[in-house]
Amino acid sequence: GTTLGASAAEKGRYFGTAVAAYKLSDATYVGILNREFNMVTPENEMKWDATEPSQNQFNYTNADRIVSHAQANGMRVRGHALAWHSQQPGWAQNLSGTALRQAMVNHITRVATHYKGKIYAWDVVNEAFADSGGVRRDSNLQRTGDDWIEVAFRTARAADPGAKLCYNDYNTDNWTWAKTQAVYNMVRDFKARGVPIDCVGLQSHFNSGSPYPGNYRTTLENFAALGVDVQITELDIEGSGTTQATTYGNVVKDCLAVSRCTGITVWGIRDSDSWRASGTPLLFDGNGNKKPAYTAVLDALNAG
Ligand code: G3I
Repeated sequence: GTTLGASAAEKGRYFGTAVAAYKLSDATYVGILNREFNMVTPENEMKWDATEPSQNQFNYTNADRIVSHAQANGMRVRGHALAWHSQQPGWAQNLSGTALRQAMVNHITRVATHYKGKIYAWDVVNEAFADSGGVRRDSNLQRTGDDWIEVAFRTARAADPGAKLCYNDYNTDNWTWAKTQAVYNMVRDFKARGVPIDCVGLQSHFNSGSPYPGNYRTTLENFAALGVDVQITELDIEGSGTTQATTYGNVVKDCLAVSRCTGITVWGIRDSDSWRASGTPLLFDGNGNKKPAYTAVLDALNAG
């Protein structure tokens, strides 16, 4: 293939990017998006604060723009994210206990129902584990009870039985890290007890503090062996030039080596689109030109 999406498709995978609705009027941005990608993740537009700014009053305007653009251009959509401690609307931040639990369930039901049939995979729960210690992150949702995660998954399944349901997190790439083990144990437990979970998203924001680990493929393999798909959901890699390109290529090779690694999403198109205030972590430069990292990804997708 000659594009990321077409080359990934030849390997039975997708290649996606995070998309911001307000950039859909940027011709350079849309040109690259439509040419290269066949999966999109709304970067912020499906989050709780965006979709339910006041309790039980839903606003899908910006998320719908992205979904419509995707459908019109033959791209699928990863939904992000139904339940998360961050980017909650103020009213939810002020709730606790049963009221918060019921609000979470209502939110998941309403949003997943609105998008029923249009979402390839939902990040049902995002970032529920602490960065160290192998324990749950403290949050208002966690304080409603340990079962909030499985309740979220059961609620999402009921609302949209056709969507794959993912648990998504960062710093779960290195197999030896306690956070990785904690997520693995949760997924194993969910599979054993029949809690509906179909996939694990590894965000894969690689930088000096959490670099691409040599055991990344092992991590992908071990999650997949639990009977779930694995997806690389928010890939970006600190650095530049040949070093960055080599790491990007290695990530792609690792995914292709694991049959249940179903696709890769980068967290933005141009370096200037990145959530990172500084740095050059993506595949296209600020002018939309292909970087060495792009070529390394394309070559890895086309190898073999
Ligand atoms: O939309 C408002 C705008 O009206 C306001 O003027 C401006 C002033 O600060 O803020 C704008 O909102 C910002 C929003 O991005 C849209 O640009 C928020 O402040 C800013 O916090 C928000 O950042 C997002 C971040 O999640 C929030 O947690 C990033 O764009 C987004 O890339 C990032 O994505 C997360 C994933 O969801 C989960 N995994 C980690 C990843 C990177 O942090």
